Amino acid sequence: MVEEVLRCLRPIAGQVAIDCTLGGGGHAQAILEHLQPGGRLIGFDSDPLELPRTEARLRAAGFGADVFVTRHGNFARLPELLAAEGLAAADVIVADLGVSSMQVDDPARGFSYLPGPLDMRMNPSEGEPAWQLLDRLDEEALAALLTENADEPHAGLIAGLLKQKPIKTTHALERFVRLGLNKALPNLEKAEVKMSVRRTFQAIRITVNNEFSALDALLRSLPQCLAPGGRAAILTFHSGEDRRVKKAFQAGARAGVYADVASAVIRSTKEETFSNRRAAAAKLRWAVRAI
Ligand SMILES: C[S@@+](CC[C@H](N)C(=O)[O-])C[C@H]1O[C@@H](n2cnc3c(N)ncnc32)[C@H](O)[C@@H]1O
Repeated sequence: MVEEVLRCLRPIAGQVAIDCTLGGGGHAQAILEHLQPGGRLIGFDSDPLELPRTEARLRAAGFGADVFVTRHGNFARLPELLAAEGLAAADVIVADLGVSSMQVDDPARGFSYLPGPLDMRMNPSEGEPAWQLLDRLDEEALAALLTENADEPHAGLIAGLLKQKPIKTTHALERFVRLGLNKALPNLEKAEVKMSVRRTFQAIRITVNNEFSALDALLRSLPQCLAPGGRAAILTFHSGEDRRVKKAFQAGARAGVYADVASAVIRSTKEETFSNRRAAAAKLRWAVRAI
C-alpha cells in the first residue's frame, strides 16, 4: 500500500521522516524520494538481523548516510529514540505493523509453517522464544491469549492441545493444532481449521513480541513525537491492532491534539490484494497533529 501511505503522509522536500518499522525499506524508499532535497529519514526496527541488509539495499539505491540512517530500536520507546537522534519531533511518521516477508521466509526465525525452531522473536536476543512461552503458560493463560490476541473461537480446545506435550518446532505446532482440531471437531471445514492454525501462530507471536503493549506505547507518544502539522500513518493487519489505532486517533481528535484523523479505514486495491495476499488484511489509518 505504498501509494496509499504516501497519500496519507504527503512527504515533501526538507522534511524529517521516521519509519518505525523499516523492514525491507519499501515504504522508506518511497518516502525518501519525496524528501529530497534537504530531507532525511530515520528507519527503526526491532530486528537487528534484517536491518543491515535493508541499509545496504537503500545505500545501493543511492541514499547516503546524510539522508538515511537505520537504528535498532523498538517503537515502544519512540521519544527516547528520537532524543538519541537530537530530535524533539518529526514531520512524518509511519508504522507498518507485524512481521516482514524476509522474517516469515526465513525458517530459522520460526514465524511460519516452514520447518524450524518455534522462536518468533523479532529481536532474537530479547525475551523468550515461543516454545518456552508455551512451556511456561498454563492452559487457562494460553486460552486467554488465543482469545485476546486473535479472537480464536476454539481457544479452550487449542490451549488443551498445546499442553499435551512440549512443542519445540513450527512444524509440530502446525501439525498438533491441525490434527487435534480435525479429531475433536470432525465436522469443521478444512478452511476453518486452516484459519484456526493461522490465528494460533498469530496469537503466540503477538505475546512473544509484546506487540499490543508496544503499539499502545507508540499511540500514547505519537502526538508528542509529531511536529505541529505533522502526519502519521499506521498499517495494521488484524482487528486487535486496528481497534487500538482507531480509538487512539479518535480520542486524540476529540482532545484537539490531532487536527484531523481518518474517518474510515483505507484498504488495498483489488490489484494489490491479488498479487500480495498480506495486503488483503491491511487497514490503513492516518492522523494530522494539531498546529
Ligand atoms: C511489515 S514489516 C515492515 C515492512 C516495511 N514497511 C517495508 O516496506 O518493507 C514490519 C517490521 O516491523 C518490525 N517491528 C515490529 N514491531 C516492532 C516494534 N515494536 N518496534 C520496531 N520494529 C518493529 C518488524 O521487525 C518488521 O521488520
